[in-house]
Amino acid sequence: MISAEKIPNNVNLSSNKRLQRALEHWQPKYIQWWRDMGPQGFQDYHQVYVRTAISVDPEGWAHFEYVKLPEYRWGIFLADPVHDRRIGFGDFLGQPVWQEVPGEFRNQLRRLIVTQGDTEPASVEQQRLLGQRCPSLYDLRNLFQVNVEEGRHLWAMVYLLHSYFGRDGRDEAEELLERQSGNRDKPRILEAFNEPIDNWLDFFMFTMFTDRDGKSQLMSLSESSLDPLSRTTRFMLTEEAHHMFVGETGIARILERTCQLMKQAGFSGDVRKLGGIDMPTIQKHLNLWFSLSLDLHGSEVSSNAATYFANGLKGRAKEDTFDEHVVKDSYYRMEFFEDGKPVTKEILMRNAMNEVLRDWYVGDCAAGVVRWNRILEQHGLSERLRLPDRKFHRGIGMYSGFHFDPNGVPLTSEQWEQRKHEWLPSTADAEYLLSIMAEPIYEPGKFANYIAPPRRGINQLPIDFQYIRTEQ
Ligand SMILES: [Fe+2]
Ligand SMILES: [Fe+2]
Repeated sequence: MISAEKIPNNVNLSSNKRLQRALEHWQPKYIQWWRDMGPQGFQDYHQVYVRTAISVDPEGWAHFEYVKLPEYRWGIFLADPVHDRRIGFGDFLGQPVWQEVPGEFRNQLRRLIVTQGDTEPASVEQQRLLGQRCPSLYDLRNLFQVNVEEGRHLWAMVYLLHSYFGRDGRDEAEELLERQSGNRDKPRILEAFNEPIDNWLDFFMFTMFTDRDGKSQLMSLSESSLDPLSRTTRFMLTEEAHHMFVGETGIARILERTCQLMKQAGFSGDVRKLGGIDMPTIQKHLNLWFSLSLDLHGSEVSSNAATYFANGLKGRAKEDTFDEHVVKDSYYRMEFFEDGKPVTKEILMRNAMNEVLRDWYVGDCAAGVVRWNRILEQHGLSERLRLPDRKFHRGIGMYSGFHFDPNGVPLTSEQWEQRKHEWLPSTADAEYLLSIMAEPIYEPGKFANYIAPPRRGINQLPIDFQYIRTEQ
């Protein structure tokens, strides 16, 4: 049964019969999906110490309790309304924001919401086997926290579809549970969400780089003229921050441990002999997930992006920090690749909106890499991690038909085939990672050999707290 007790919300669910009816139909399918496609082996006998959002104010939002995962209270929350909010960009600048979907933008808005919504269950599917290879109970709990919140993000998008898009919205909500990550016939919409994540190095890189694309997208949607979309995504951003924390600190702890092992190995770099993860392997996984996540921002020149901006549907990250919000006659200097050479051209700024967002994203990633490199520096190591050039390993946009090395130097197909595993994980790398993760660690306070313990536990609890307990 649908009730406000079971579904914490601030959208007046108890007095909204239409939404109740739609959810009553959808929710059992969601639970079935969670059981089939969510964390494998952790559905029935495990209680997980997770944070549940029960309201948007700070206390309600950080409510911790032990729950069985399928009984998690997935809720529906919108950030508080902004009084007299006005459209902040595009052709309707300054007009009041919309509380309903304008007919002429219905298809475009539905597309944006479905594309965002599709990524949420996709990542849960990608990560569903990781629990059986976890480096600690602390990490296992973080994985499940991320998973239940991605589930909640799906609820957030389904709420919008059910409330504002009628029959088509209900159909789309069902299809969000029918597509499957990596499925040949019914794949998820975006490519990075069809890639398997079967080891924890991939998981941490994914939460660092791909969840950060989530942040890019949510920031631009939170500028939207459709006020319920803006408010929904604004609240989602608070959860996204935790996902990136899991990724950034996860890699930081691997680096910490790798440094320790390198010292033990006499700085030979051969930390695999000691069961650690060597720097080249870490760099390759960074290259993989950064490049896949760059693709998620779409083509460099995009008339769709221009239309979304003109119509006020999707803005730039931190739109109010820009001087000019109509952006009709300004240009963006963009590098093209023609006849094997880079050529700079001026592109109408509105057509370059994907690239503008990608610029913001690259800057945000670069700051994270600087923080990682401090660890290497503190240990007196000369190695550094770095972001590959944006042209490297692209599957979408103007560079996708060509090959480049991580410095952006063009390569022939033969050179690429010969050398790609210097820069991207190979089957041997995957096998090595699985070999050191084969035994999961469920003992409180114990950590796998390849990762250092965190600085502190969750919710001010000790690191060796029993974050997950079993019951008979
Ligand atoms: Fe999400
Ligand atoms: Fe996320």
